[in-house]
This record gives sequence, C-alpha cells and structure tokens, in this order.
Amino acid sequence: MPPKKIVAGNWKMNTDLQDAISLANTVIEGAEQMKAQAILCPPSLFLDPLVKLTAGSAIALGAQNCSFAEKGAFTGEIAASMIASVGAKYVILGHSERRTIFGEDNLTIQQKVSQALKNNLIVIFCCGETLEEREAGRVEEVITRQITEGLPTVIENPASNIIIAYEPVWAIGTGITASPAQAEEVHRFIRNLLKQQFGQIGADISLLYGGSCNAANAAELFAQENIDGGLIGGASLKAADFLTICKAFA
Ligand code: 13P
Repeated sequence: MPPKKIVAGNWKMNTDLQDAISLANTVIEGAEQMKAQAILCPPSLFLDPLVKLTAGSAIALGAQNCSFAEKGAFTGEIAASMIASVGAKYVILGHSERRTIFGEDNLTIQQKVSQALKNNLIVIFCCGETLEEREAGRVEEVITRQITEGLPTVIENPASNIIIAYEPVWAIGTGITASPAQAEEVHRFIRNLLKQQFGQIGADISLLYGGSCNAANAAELFAQENIDGGLIGGASLKAADFLTICKAFA
C-alpha cells in the first residue's frame, strides 16, 4: 500500500477551550473533499471535548506529547493510556521543542514511543536538524541518530503505527520553509533509512514535512515523491488555511 496522505495540525500551547471548539468546528464544517487524513493536535486538556465534537466526522485527534512512564507518581504528566482512553488516536513525539526546551533525548523519546505503541496510539515521530548541523553537513548523521535511537528496533506494523515528520529546526516558526527540493532530498534519505530498518514495509510509512508549511507552499511540497503530507504549526490555527493545506494534493 502506498503511504497514506496525512495532514496534522500541531496547535502547540495555543487556544483556550472556546477557541479550540470554534477552530475544530470550522475544520469539521469544511472537511468535505479532504484529500488526506486530517488530525488535530490541541493541548491535551481539550482532547476529550474535541473527540466528542468530531465524532462521526473524518477528523481524528492527537496529543502533542505523552509520558515515558506508564502511570504513578509523575506530577503533571499525562500517560499514553489516558490519551487513548478519551478516544484520541495519535501522539506527536520527539518534537524539536520538546527536545530543546524540555531536554528530551533519544532514549526518553524511545520510551515514550514504546508507551504510545503499547496503548495503540499512532506515533507522529519528529526529527530534524538545526541550522548549525545543516551548515556543518551533518543532516544525514543527525536524522539517522534520531530515528535509529528514538524508535524502538522492533515495531509491529510500522506502516500503520508510525508516521515520520521531518521538521528542520531552522524552518519551525521562522517563515523560512525548506525548498521542495531540500525537503525531498531529506525525505528520500529517510525513506531509505526506514527500508533498511524495517524492510520493504518502510516504503509504506507516511513521511510528513513540517516547518513553515502553509496554504501557499503546501501543494508544491506535497507534490514531491516522498512527501506524504505535513505537520503544520502556525497555519493550523487558521481553519481556512489548514483546510486548504488538507486539500493541497494532486
Ligand atoms: P510552524 O508550521 O509554525 O513552522 O511549526 C511547525 C511545527 O513545529 C509543527 O510541529
């Protein structure tokens, strides 16, 4: 099966309950002729009401993070099982903001991925280099480490349970997008890496691009051979832009 087309909106730490409901409602209303699986990733606090709101629609819900631990004395943390229990289906892990601001390393991320998979969540696994790493010619090395150390070595049905998002750190929230050719080059590299790690099924894993992807540039990015959709930050907070991106497939 060819990789599924997917567009996920990472709302990050934005919206309040009223904004979240109204944003999700507008996305639901505009969801016909969607050419990809649309996933909304609001702050976890709003997952439960939004799962209820989107029930019966084509929109799925995901969390932006989960704990590395199963349960217990981890004040302030949210377990993968809790996310699954409200009906969310996805979780973003390994985002560069989690890596840099919250000090998450590849091992922690691998533990989180394991928790998520154990609880039947589909993982949107983020990787990407900083500008410094790109300029030093280290893109492939950095991505290889993030993927081989951040993902468990054995994953059941990786094409159904894992989505990879390539998010060059220098493109996140900066308005500077990787050019379609730059993004495709890294996506092709990731595709080959996944085939090495998982065998031929690696060819079926969806690869999303993220980093200043918007309504104006999505179509050109999504037209690349190994780009199967996007992980959208800022532009996912505007329903009309997010819907345009969800339909930006040939
Ligand atoms: P922007 O689309 O705002 O650059 O954010 C990308 C991102 O980090 C999505 O996870």
